[in-house]
Amino acid sequence: MASAIADVLGTMSHPTESDVRMRAWAEISLSNLERNLYQIKAALPKGLRYIAVVKADAYGHGLLPVAVRLMRSGADMFAVANIAEAAELREIAGDWPILVLGPVLPFEMKAAIDMNLILSLSSREECESLARLAGSVSKSVAVHLKIDTGMGRAGVWYEQAGELLEAVRAQPMLDLQGIYTHFSCADSDPQFTAEQRQRFQAIMNQYGLGQQPLWVHADNSAGLDSFTRGLPVNGVRVGLLQFGVRPHPFSLLAGLQVEPVFSFHTRVGLIKTLPAGTGISYGRSHILPRKTRVAVLTSGYADGVPTTLSNRGHVLIRGRLCPVLGRVTMDQTVVDLGAQEEVCVGDKATWIGTQQEAGIDLIAFARQAGQIPWEVLCSVSKRVQRVYRTDSAL
Ligand SMILES: Cc1ncc(COP(=O)(O)O)c(C=O)c1O
Repeated sequence: MASAIADVLGTMSHPTESDVRMRAWAEISLSNLERNLYQIKAALPKGLRYIAVVKADAYGHGLLPVAVRLMRSGADMFAVANIAEAAELREIAGDWPILVLGPVLPFEMKAAIDMNLILSLSSREECESLARLAGSVSKSVAVHLKIDTGMGRAGVWYEQAGELLEAVRAQPMLDLQGIYTHFSCADSDPQFTAEQRQRFQAIMNQYGLGQQPLWVHADNSAGLDSFTRGLPVNGVRVGLLQFGVRPHPFSLLAGLQVEPVFSFHTRVGLIKTLPAGTGISYGRSHILPRKTRVAVLTSGYADGVPTTLSNRGHVLIRGRLCPVLGRVTMDQTVVDLGAQEEVCVGDKATWIGTQQEAGIDLIAFARQAGQIPWEVLCSVSKRVQRVYRTDSAL
């Protein structure tokens, strides 16, 4: 494991600003990630277990470097979406507990058992196939029971949880280590979230699960807002907040000083002045009302710049906001330089992040693009190199 971690650290680049010779890149502040984790843990009751949600390549931040940092900063368990993500993580995570949140397909179960993963169970069918396979290889499998208290996605419907619990308990090769639920609208509907908590708690009470040494978890980032001491919950599953993004502006945890971990930059590739009446980009959806100095940026939707930013978005160049003109294309985007005479080819343009005193934060970027912050992070493509920083400057 130590050498696998050393390999990950060895492949990470830590260039200084002037060294970054890329057309589009994302800077990831591992120091901010670590500080955020400390802040979140400090705000929660002592002893609560921290399950770091690192699915989808750690929300686009890069699974391995993020996981290495989180392991060193006090995460107790990782949660991923599927077996492929778990396999990548297992390479560096030694015997660190890894929970697979999504359903495991029958043809993936053997690999999951071999990798000592913790699997989420939502149905009797899953329970029986897993138990059969575990029996055939004489290896017990750790499972968490997933309860659908109102998400309407994975998990056993809460009114049928008892039957599944019995089925799991009847299988000697299944080692029930945890139970959890997931909130559908913790960021928008506190009443329904309370109802979900109540349904979850009722199951815990009815089956005496609070007295057992299980991992019991329900809260995602937004759920933490209504986290209540005293419930038989002993863990949280946090994704977005650890990356420095609050799920909504009125968060009760708004007092937490989480810092952004992710910023997204590109370059000015070409500068030119076009006459009034020129149509910009495919479809000529923007016609220049006057003679205009424009910059052609070296990133587009293939890098993760949403096409919904066409004629709407902005970048920062030399600390000033420059509006997107016309349609965002696959590899290039045109912006209006206004009166900025000093801009040069090669200048950094920032889609998400700060320049001088100005900033475009992820929430504002997402709002402008008509997306959710999770989606923005996951859409920044592989073509965009991740640059890891261990200072806090973004
Ligand atoms: C089951 C489950 N738990 C926890 C999380 C983490 O949510 P968040 O990123 O809002 O903290 C997710 C994310 O989608 C999830 O699907």
